[in-house]
Amino acid sequence: MTSPGRTLHTPVCIIGAGPSGLLLSRLLRLNGVDSVVLERRTRDHVEKRVRAGLLEQGTVEVLRDAGVGERLDREALVHEGFEWRLDGAVHRMPFTELCGASVWMYGQQEVVKDLLDARDGEPGLHFGVEDVRIASVTADGGRVVCTIDGQLTELTCDFIAACDGFHGVGRQAVPAGELVGHEVTHPFAWLGVLTAAPPLSPELIYAVGDRGFALQSMRSPQVSRLYLSVPPGEGVDDRSDEQIWRELDLRLTGGQGTLPTGRILERVMVPLRSFVAEPFQYRRLFLVGDAAHIVPPSAAKGLNMAVADARHLAEALTDWYAHGRREALDGYSATAVPRAWQGQQFSASMTTLMHAAPDESVFDRRLRRARFERLLSSTAEATAFAEQYTGIARR
Ligand code: FAD
Ligand code: DHB
Repeated sequence: MTSPGRTLHTPVCIIGAGPSGLLLSRLLRLNGVDSVVLERRTRDHVEKRVRAGLLEQGTVEVLRDAGVGERLDREALVHEGFEWRLDGAVHRMPFTELCGASVWMYGQQEVVKDLLDARDGEPGLHFGVEDVRIASVTADGGRVVCTIDGQLTELTCDFIAACDGFHGVGRQAVPAGELVGHEVTHPFAWLGVLTAAPPLSPELIYAVGDRGFALQSMRSPQVSRLYLSVPPGEGVDDRSDEQIWRELDLRLTGGQGTLPTGRILERVMVPLRSFVAEPFQYRRLFLVGDAAHIVPPSAAKGLNMAVADARHLAEALTDWYAHGRREALDGYSATAVPRAWQGQQFSASMTTLMHAAPDESVFDRRLRRARFERLLSSTAEATAFAEQYTGIARR
């Protein structure tokens, strides 16, 4: 039963305790700015939600600056290259040698756990919050209404940060006409499995061939993350474990039977979708991470883009509170939107490079092959790719 209402005030009301909301709150705290975080799921759910796993160098630096890099530096696997397997032929992409930057393999849920642990009992983070609603956003502040621990609560605040993902309430609170959504749905999905099996190779493998795309990634030397491209609309349980392993082996090894197998710990179906809302800001409401944009998983940019937004907004809010400067806040969208389009551009480019559309013509297939040939034969092309893959091109 809901008990009678109360009103609280916080400088910054953050909706969503995913990576972007938790990081924003953490960075603000380090800069002396208070916030309240409202999360509709339980802590257990948030900590166990398996999603992304590839951290760009810039993301790792932000996490270190936020004081949550210690376990990451101990446990993450640092990668300096990956393999293309194109119709069975192996080509290494030595991205660190090409552009100087590395990537780190470390599960998103580990980042979330580290951010939660770093709070160490600090108040202002609420799980299981029901019916979060943005009641008003004005030029001076906002009002959020929700139920916290059964108590109807009105939160007044100076700023609202919508860190509530693609399906959250934040973006929906922007009046029609003030925001435009640009969306493309690609004609494939990825079936992902997390499995208690060592990876086939210590580096990631992006395999492209007649049977479709497959990716071998990992979370540790004992836990692999594998993906298969599948037709859109396929159900997450449509294939048996045996069918999944056989298809992965066919696409990754050409059917040699050498792909290590193990217990499948989790399955997920990831639609390949691109979306950008413009602008990322309406009065005192700011859109951050997946609330503002989503990318197909092909280039592993979603989490990294969310971290970049959160860092940027934290700096802008700190400028406001600590120095009374509003330029960075006013310019949040103008800076973050083009950066998001860079992430979109590279994600779409990797998506179209690695997947044959269902109606792909021979001409388009040859073009795709020609793109690969350039990437594999031109150092300039490979370096530009490496800069985007590792994220240093977007900084
Ligand atoms: P989210 O992580 O979505 O966090 C939003 C939070 O807000 C959630 O905790 C949610 O419960 C909460 N919330 C939502 N609505 C409300 C509400 N009304 N009230 C209160 N709280 C609310 N990216 C990659 O780079 N590589 C991958 O392999 C990859 N795999 C993915 C697999 C899946 C199944 C999904 C969904 C995404 C994947 N992504 C991947 C994308 C990446 O995980 C996201 O970009 C990242 O989680 C964005 O972080 P975020 O904090 O902005 O949003
Ligand atoms: C992972 C996902 C990706 O989409 C990618 O390009 C690389 C790694 C992963 O989940 O580990």
